[in-house]
Amino acid sequence: MPNEASTAPPFEPPSIDLRGRVAIVTGASRGIGRATAETLAAAGAAVVLTGRSLEPVAEVAQSIIERGGRALPFAAHAGEPESADALAEATLEAFGAIDILVNNAGTCPHYGPLLDASEALWDKTMDVNLRGPWRTARACVPAMRARGGGAIVNVSSIAGLIPQNGVGLYCLSKAGLVMMTQVLAAELAPEGVRVHAVAPGFVRTRFSRGMWDDDAERTRMLDEIPQGRIGEPEEIARAIAFLVSDWTPFATGSTFVADGGQLVAAGMWTPG
Ligand SMILES: NC(=O)c1ccc[n+]([C@@H]2O[C@H](COP(=O)([O-])OP(=O)(O)OC[C@H]3O[C@@H](n4cnc5c(N)ncnc54)[C@H](OP(=O)(O)O)[C@@H]3O)[C@@H](O)[C@H]2O)c1
Repeated sequence: MPNEASTAPPFEPPSIDLRGRVAIVTGASRGIGRATAETLAAAGAAVVLTGRSLEPVAEVAQSIIERGGRALPFAAHAGEPESADALAEATLEAFGAIDILVNNAGTCPHYGPLLDASEALWDKTMDVNLRGPWRTARACVPAMRARGGGAIVNVSSIAGLIPQNGVGLYCLSKAGLVMMTQVLAAELAPEGVRVHAVAPGFVRTRFSRGMWDDDAERTRMLDEIPQGRIGEPEEIARAIAFLVSDWTPFATGSTFVADGGQLVAAGMWTPG
């Protein structure tokens, strides 16, 4: 029972409040990017959503607007040099600021031993997963500086923290993204820009469909995950919303792992 004599305001359930913020989410037509754009919009941010073609992101943006959010779809290939500047310009024109950047678009075009990868697939992987996030950060940070700060989250992977079978090139690019996160966090901290990475494990999206759609592959994967389940895109989206929010102002440079325990169990002896 509240004390009648108290003048202190009653407790209110805490929530993440991003009203007045402007966020960019790359690769937001589906999966983790879509869930992130929706979560940030639900928390009050205006969101700019990118994908390689306009129509799929336009549909997601429209559904956000219909639910009372503010959203702008923008076609931008994460691997193309001119995309990042055009994205930042379009965001500033539409919403007048950039506070949050989520570098989520990613690709894994080469399956097989690292030394079998072609030069072309090396370039494609690094361009989309590493150079693209670097370019968008470079394009967006001046606007963050003008606001006195901002937050960047790079969507890496546990594959950037521990080698995974058959996707070595992808592992390399995602490991680079973790290091880029740490370098930028150190360089941009004096200017109030915080930079984090998230490292998802096995999440149910089109990207990972080959693993969860195949019975044998799914069973093998689930054996490696102590929680015994696949993650959902919304679980990663909420971690991102937390990291970009005002709840964590002293934190920067972290890599937030969300993987059902897969990474910490990777070196453990499996009974039976
Ligand atoms: N799912 C997992 O298990 C998992 C685990 C760890 C990390 N991740 C990472 O999570 C991120 C999102 O993946 P997801 O699982 O959500 O996959 P997804 O459902 O396939 O979504 C990928 C998104 O990225 C966009 N995209 C792909 N290539 C692009 C490019 N070159 N330029 C711009 N946008 C591009 C796609 O849009 P369009 O096709 O419309 O262009 C789509 O919106 C990736 O960085 C991935 O590496 C995923």
